[in-house]
Amino acid sequence: MGAQIAAHFANAGIRVRLLDLSPEVAADGLKRALALSPNPLFTRDAKALIATGGFDGDLASAAGHADWIVEAIVEQIDAKRALLEKVDAVRRAGSIVSSNTGWFGAIRSSSRDGDFALTPSKNMPTSTFQRLR
Ligand SMILES: NC(=O)c1ccc[n+]([C@@H]2O[C@H](COP(=O)([O-])OP(=O)(O)OC[C@H]3O[C@@H](n4cnc5c(N)ncnc54)[C@H](O)[C@@H]3O)[C@@H](O)[C@H]2O)c1
Repeated sequence: MGAQIAAHFANAGIRVRLLDLSPEVAADGLKRALALSPNPLFTRDAKALIATGGFDGDLASAAGHADWIVEAIVEQIDAKRALLEKVDAVRRAGSIVSSNTGWFGAIRSSSRDGDFALTPSKNMPTSTFQRLR
């Protein structure tokens, strides 16, 4: 799902970093997503807008520069909490964090209150983005 979300941003002309447990896992996830039919990328050029990496080595630089950080890891509450805490420690002030989760209330945190939202599911990223408070 994360790779497909990354492709959707790239389709809109937005540079995106796709991170996973390791750079290899992220690259493999992107490869699998791009093998889907229909291809989630609208043009071949869009692929150049997606760079892959791993949480350990790339989270600080990616989250430190991003306007929007989309969490889309495995639906395990402890894993999401742990990753979001790492994101909070390095993200740029004013950035938005959103999550693909059914446990939105349970993973909210005062440190990202007001900057935290559910990832919009339709027409992203061109849809109206509503912050949930
Ligand atoms: N797949 C769908 O159709 C779909 C639809 C709606 C919402 N969602 C939500 O999107 C999110 C991702 O769904 P998915 O199907 O891609 O999940 P998934 O189970 O395929 O996991 C996504 C990624 O999480 C990584 N991961 C596994 N354990 C981790 C950990 N401990 N820490 C950090 N990363 C870890 C994996 O490497 C994997 O690439 C979930 O919250 C899910 O509920 C998925």
